[in-house]
Amino acid sequence: MSDETSDLSTAASDVSAEVQSQSVPGFPRWWQNAIFYQIYPRSFSDDNGDGIGDIRGVIDKLGYLELVGVDAIWLSPVMKSPMADHGYDVSDPRDIDDLFGGLDALDALIREAHERDIKVTMDLVPNHTSDQHAWFIEALNSEPGSAARQRYIFRDGLGDDGSLPPNNWASVFGGPAWTRITDTNGQPGQWYLHIFATEQPDLNWENPEVFADLEKTLRFWLDRGVDGFRIDVAHGMAKPEGLPDMVLDNVGLLSNDDNDPRFNNPGVHDIHRQIRAVLDDYPDAMTVGEIWVDDNVRFAEYVRPDELHLGFNFRLAKIQFDSEAVREAIEHSLEAIASVSGTPTWTLSNHDVEREVTRYSTADSPQAGIDRARAMILVELALPGAVFIYNGAELGLPNVDLPDDVLQDPVWERSGHTERGRDGCRVPLPWEGTTPPFAFSSNPDTWLPIPAEWAALTVETQLEDVNSTLSLYRQAIEYRKTRPEFAGEAIEWYGAPAGCLAFRRSLGKLVCALNAGPEPIGLPPGEVLLSSAPLVDGKLPPNAAAWLV
Ligand code: NOJ
Repeated sequence: MSDETSDLSTAASDVSAEVQSQSVPGFPRWWQNAIFYQIYPRSFSDDNGDGIGDIRGVIDKLGYLELVGVDAIWLSPVMKSPMADHGYDVSDPRDIDDLFGGLDALDALIREAHERDIKVTMDLVPNHTSDQHAWFIEALNSEPGSAARQRYIFRDGLGDDGSLPPNNWASVFGGPAWTRITDTNGQPGQWYLHIFATEQPDLNWENPEVFADLEKTLRFWLDRGVDGFRIDVAHGMAKPEGLPDMVLDNVGLLSNDDNDPRFNNPGVHDIHRQIRAVLDDYPDAMTVGEIWVDDNVRFAEYVRPDELHLGFNFRLAKIQFDSEAVREAIEHSLEAIASVSGTPTWTLSNHDVEREVTRYSTADSPQAGIDRARAMILVELALPGAVFIYNGAELGLPNVDLPDDVLQDPVWERSGHTERGRDGCRVPLPWEGTTPPFAFSSNPDTWLPIPAEWAALTVETQLEDVNSTLSLYRQAIEYRKTRPEFAGEAIEWYGAPAGCLAFRRSLGKLVCALNAGPEPIGLPPGEVLLSSAPLVDGKLPPNAAAWLV
């Protein structure tokens, strides 16, 4: 669709020829057009001074979240956990870990967030439990084939003495996906499956007890006032008949493709239907699933009207700063949900991937990283649908290159120190002051060290600077929520010079232009509402985006 002009105004004057319409249906529900803000609790704000963020720390910053303009919080796991994977290993799904402040703190957060019109959604981890969950401890102390073992995926080993794992599956975090247990008599016993760390045994979703327990968990939190859930590994849970071997060539850590037998098995959809049936008793509540499925048709199955309300589409979080790739990601994401009348979701990063500032940096220009991240938030916020912002993105935080001895992600150990893991995107937020820990905590010994250079990126500094990334986010979110130009659920593409893209909201007519090329470009006619960088002689510079009305 690109033309060869170096000026968007030429392309835009011929809109009718270039327009390609992509419609998605109306957005009557609160979550369909909401700004969700992901809080990684360890890293957001520490109230009790132990160097690790907690729920009272979040309560303390609700005024800030209101200032940013978020509609809903997504709290990464805060349930009881030995923290082998920082909360994604849950030992009691119906309690809050003391590290984060216990149940009282969560109740207070729900109350106080609701007073400010901010919804609270929680992470739910149905694919696996912690190895310290009462069920797993019982399974270890029970016989092969017992009811307790059948809540998990236990198998005899292969080979004469059972010393080989039941199949060749790899753990997403590195190493094998099976661990052999030692029986109570001290003899080597069966093997259990853990797609993630050894401390995260996979549940057996063919056992009805597993869903019955999840239903209790869902109702427990919904009855307390929680507004919805992010469902961890929503493309996991169901396992294929007979657990066939996987193809091990090119299997990457922390990733899967569409042919991977560990994920996206057809049985998963019944599980989502069961979850949805519970959610339907709470008509304002929602679910958003973590779905690492590329194929649009297979992806769409998860967001059929009787399954998940929303599914994370990670295309924008995976790509570099390239206009073709951005356009393709947007088109594919819209196409993916169109067939099932779903709602699009947009996300540039989360606690599992490199922060966008670092992803977009180039060896010769770290500045390009921040410029491009600023441009891309304007692209994202111009799109119809739910937007997910990862805490710290609004400050333009980069990944941190942490020293080996502070790394905590299980990926570091399990990969034999070949993969550094995800700690670099989980460093605590800088709030105020000039030296670490920048009021994140009263304790200088924070769970991951905060770089001294972040003095320039604190919330305090950025609130005072109208040109800061935080100010850009605030202004952009305010416009998105208040201006009529953001109306409509469809976008239309403009022709644009190579390296650039432009689209328009079909109803409100907001135009968003992105310059990912090397030269400044002219803009379509209209008034510039907001730009991620100052215009140069009326043109949009490289690594920038603008909104026009
Ligand atoms: C996906 C989560 O986002 C990630 O952080 C976690 O390690 C795995 N699921 C396992 O629960």
